[in-house]
Amino acid sequence: SKSAILLAIESSCDETSAAVIIDGNVKSNIVSTQEVHQKYGGVVPELASRAHQKNIVPVVDQALQEAGIEKSALDAVAFTKGPGLLGALLVGGSFAKSMAQALNIPLIGVNHMQAHILAHFIEDPKPSFPFLCLTVSGGHTQLVIVHSPLEMEVIGETLDDAVGEAFDKTAKIMGLPYPGGPLIDRYAKEGNPKAYDFPEVSTPGLNFSFSGIKTAFLNFMRKEVQKDPDFLEKNMPDICASIQQTLIEILIKKLKKAAKQHNIRSIAIAGGVSANSGLRERLQAEGEKRGWDVFIPKFEYCTDNAAMIAITAHYQYLAKDFEPLTSSANPRLKF
Ligand code: KG4
Ligand code: ZN
Repeated sequence: SKSAILLAIESSCDETSAAVIIDGNVKSNIVSTQEVHQKYGGVVPELASRAHQKNIVPVVDQALQEAGIEKSALDAVAFTKGPGLLGALLVGGSFAKSMAQALNIPLIGVNHMQAHILAHFIEDPKPSFPFLCLTVSGGHTQLVIVHSPLEMEVIGETLDDAVGEAFDKTAKIMGLPYPGGPLIDRYAKEGNPKAYDFPEVSTPGLNFSFSGIKTAFLNFMRKEVQKDPDFLEKNMPDICASIQQTLIEILIKKLKKAAKQHNIRSIAIAGGVSANSGLRERLQAEGEKRGWDVFIPKFEYCTDNAAMIAITAHYQYLAKDFEPLTSSANPRLKF
């Protein structure tokens, strides 16, 4: 049969990205990260939309060019429908719709969280079904049972902040630029994770809570800086290692609980925070101890990218799961 050539566009937050996939093989994956947000300590939605507007044409052109594909060869165009920032989603969505209409090809609307998980299917080894995935990003913290590429069930999630947000907000308290997660990771490598204790907030069942940690950290920093104004400068690695350790412990604890409750030994992590080296090492060690099959994404597929949108679109294309041209972005899209 004829091969399926798809273009995928991701614009849910602060990465403008486009990818081309042919029969499930990613041929290009261009990611342009917006730098305007660094000094604001978080993503500024209006600035994100504007940067997407500016970047989307060159990013799409480059993705097509690197894949050696003409627009006229495309069989469908996919975009991130949600969840994400409304104005940001609308840029990618409107662009994808226009292309689908101009080329008279189907449109595919992809769920961003589902795509983070299916990033595991871009390359081998691929997890077998069912598996349990801990999806950890700047906007979400979820425990998901993955029954098949398009059938996923959320069994636990955060009741307040996402774990990526906890990384970024504690980093902001330390005066680090956005996104602070990768910086905490870097400092933590040189520090002692047992140097400081932060109280763990207990949450029912398989749900998470991270807003208490952020407040506890703020109070801790205020108290220490009052005693010694150079506290932060002197102890950055230990502080970062300790806060990172606390966040990882919360994640691993619930992951173990979920694996046990649902009797699943095939365990994956996904999303931006799955790039964290402490979490990756900890999961690997836990897996060895428990006889789990552990799946950790390549770094380039942890944070937002269009390759993961493309692989999800590939499965939707096979299932003829298309989106009408009247569809719109959904900032709170669920599975
Ligand atoms: O998946 P993602 O790129 O965007 C969302 O869908 O939210 O995740 C971004 C989040 C940010 O909070 C960022 O700080 C965090 O992932 N992150 C990390 C690391 N790399 C990215 N957090 C901790 N350690 C890292 N190495
Ligand atoms: Zn994401």
